[in-house]
Amino acid sequence: MKMILVVLMSAFLTTGALAQKSFTIGMSQCNLGEPWRVQMNADIKKSAAAHPELKLIYKDAQNDTLKQRAQIEEFVAAGVDLLIVSPKEAVPLTPPVAAAFKKGIPVIVLDRRLVGDQFTCFIGADNRRIGRAAGRWIVEKLHGTGQVVELKGLMTSTPGQDRNAGFRESIKETGIKVVFEADMKWLEPDARKEMESALARFPDIKLVYAHNDPGAHGAWLAAKAAGREKDILFVGIDGLPQEGRTYVKQGILAASFEYPTGGREAIDAALSILNGKPPAKEITLKSKAFTPENIEKGGEELP
Ligand code: FRU
Repeated sequence: MKMILVVLMSAFLTTGALAQKSFTIGMSQCNLGEPWRVQMNADIKKSAAAHPELKLIYKDAQNDTLKQRAQIEEFVAAGVDLLIVSPKEAVPLTPPVAAAFKKGIPVIVLDRRLVGDQFTCFIGADNRRIGRAAGRWIVEKLHGTGQVVELKGLMTSTPGQDRNAGFRESIKETGIKVVFEADMKWLEPDARKEMESALARFPDIKLVYAHNDPGAHGAWLAAKAAGREKDILFVGIDGLPQEGRTYVKQGILAASFEYPTGGREAIDAALSILNGKPPAKEITLKSKAFTPENIEKGGEELP
């Protein structure tokens, strides 16, 4: 019986029926400290599971740019067929990605941008547009006037720069005044600490615009500890069902703007590249706004 099976198997293999080509993909994740990044990896894993020819290897740089650089170089040395990189910072991670690309390894850059064009494809939502939409929403909500705190994402990463620039565009020439701003580096504990300083200095804060939901939640915790959470509105970005959207339902956040992880789209793009049909150089994902008014209907797409 065993013998027959072995003979059958080798027959299959020689005719190619079981010898499908497989591909190894290296996924370089900048950190897994936030739920959003855990979700990105889960989205990649789920999509890849439908394609047994794909073998994914994950590395977590634990929010350390140098470690991420080394991990990208390890993937190149191991000879992966394709790289997916979600980089921590733009400038220092451009050279290792460009080196991989020049060696002929296709690279999909996910969510945060790099400098230049030495990669195969970039996938992400339009952060400037999200910042602009958040700004417009805030101007309307505050009837064009009031003191605001801006808690920024890591400003050496492009989503931080763009979420800031878009927001500032929308509040220009209105009565909205940013009285306190700080780089909370995307981290909830940093946001909480910065908000404590803001609360100590400014008694009339009307709203906090944080570049991500962990930041908005950290600010809310600080305000709650000071007994001021009911006087202030909190706005964040990411809109995960298990995070931002839940905060909106609980009345903790006044709004959360969706920032899709792009995990599914990254696997779609990887398959196209590996099958010789490279996708567009830039894939822009859509985003939604979630507020208490629209959350049960599934949010509202950004105009
Ligand atoms: C997670 C995160 C998200 C944010 C994204 C921006 O590390 O901070 O909260 O939307 O990265 O790149």
